[in-house]
Amino acid sequence: MSAQPTRFLTGITPSGTPHLGNYAGMMRPAIAATRTAGCENFYFLADYHALIKTQDPARIHRCTLEIAASWLACGLDPEKVTFYRQSDIPEITELTWFLTCVTGKGLLNRAHAYKAAQDKNHEAGRDLDDGVNAGLFMYPVLMAADILVYNADLVPVGQDQTQHLEIARTIANRFNGIYGDTFTLPAGYVPKAGAKIMSLAEPTKKMSKSDTNANAFVLMTDDKDTIVRKFKRAVTDSDGCVRAAGDKPGVTNLMSIYSVFTGRDYAAIEKEFAGRGYGEFKLA
Ligand code: TRP
Repeated sequence: MSAQPTRFLTGITPSGTPHLGNYAGMMRPAIAATRTAGCENFYFLADYHALIKTQDPARIHRCTLEIAASWLACGLDPEKVTFYRQSDIPEITELTWFLTCVTGKGLLNRAHAYKAAQDKNHEAGRDLDDGVNAGLFMYPVLMAADILVYNADLVPVGQDQTQHLEIARTIANRFNGIYGDTFTLPAGYVPKAGAKIMSLAEPTKKMSKSDTNANAFVLMTDDKDTIVRKFKRAVTDSDGCVRAAGDKPGVTNLMSIYSVFTGRDYAAIEKEFAGRGYGEFKLA
C-alpha cells in the first residue's frame, strides 16, 4: 500500500503587489514543494481575508488577479496544484460558522492581530474597539476553515502566522472532541529554503510593501530598470568588503538575496566578490 501524500496548503491575502520577500520566503519554497514527490498542494487567493482591510471591491479584484498572475509567473503548474480563489469555494464560509460555534471567544480575544489593533487604540487613548471590525476578530476562524476544509497536513507560514495555526489546531481538536474524528490537525511548516528578506533602505527591518519609502522593497511587477535602480540605492556600509556579518546587515541582506537566486552560499559569494566593490556586487 502506498503512503498517503502529504497535503500542503497555503494562501496569500490579496492586499497588495507581492514583493521580493514574499517571493523568496514563501512563493519560491511553495513552488519547490509542488515538485517534490509525495506532496499534494492546495494554494489559494484569500480574497475574503482582504475584506478585513479594504472594502474596495475593484482593488481586491485587481490584487487577486495580480497575485494569481505572480504565482503562474513563478512556475506554479495549475495541472499539478489545486489553485483557487477562496470566494469560489462556498464550503469555506459555511464551515466557518460551524467552527465559530465551537470556538471560545476568549481564544479570539488573545489572537495577536486583534490585540495589536486594541493596543494601538489604547496607546492613542481611544476606546479599545474603536474602528475594529468584527472581521478582524473572526479572522482566525476563517483561516481555520481554509485549512480544515481540505484536511491539510502542513501549512507553510511565516512567523507572524504561527499563532493562527495554533488556533486552527485548537478549533479542530475541539470540533473532533464534540462530533468525533473529523479534521486532520494541521502542522505549521517554516520552509527551510525560505530566506527572510530585509528592507533595502533599513536592513534591520523586514521588507514590507506598505513601507513609505519605495526604495525599501522590490515588487514582483517592477521592471528591470527600476530593480537595478533600487539595488544601486540599497544601504550598505563603508567597509567595502562583500562579507556576511551581524554588523553588516545591508550587505548580508544583499548576499541572502543573491544566494536565493544563484543557489550559492555565503562563502562562495564572498569568494566570488573578493577584491571587488559593492557597485559590481549590487549590479550582479
Ligand atoms: N492570513 C494569511 C496571511 O495574511 C493568509 C491566509 C489566509 C492563510 N488563510 C490561510 C495562510 C490559510 C495559510 C493557510 O498571510
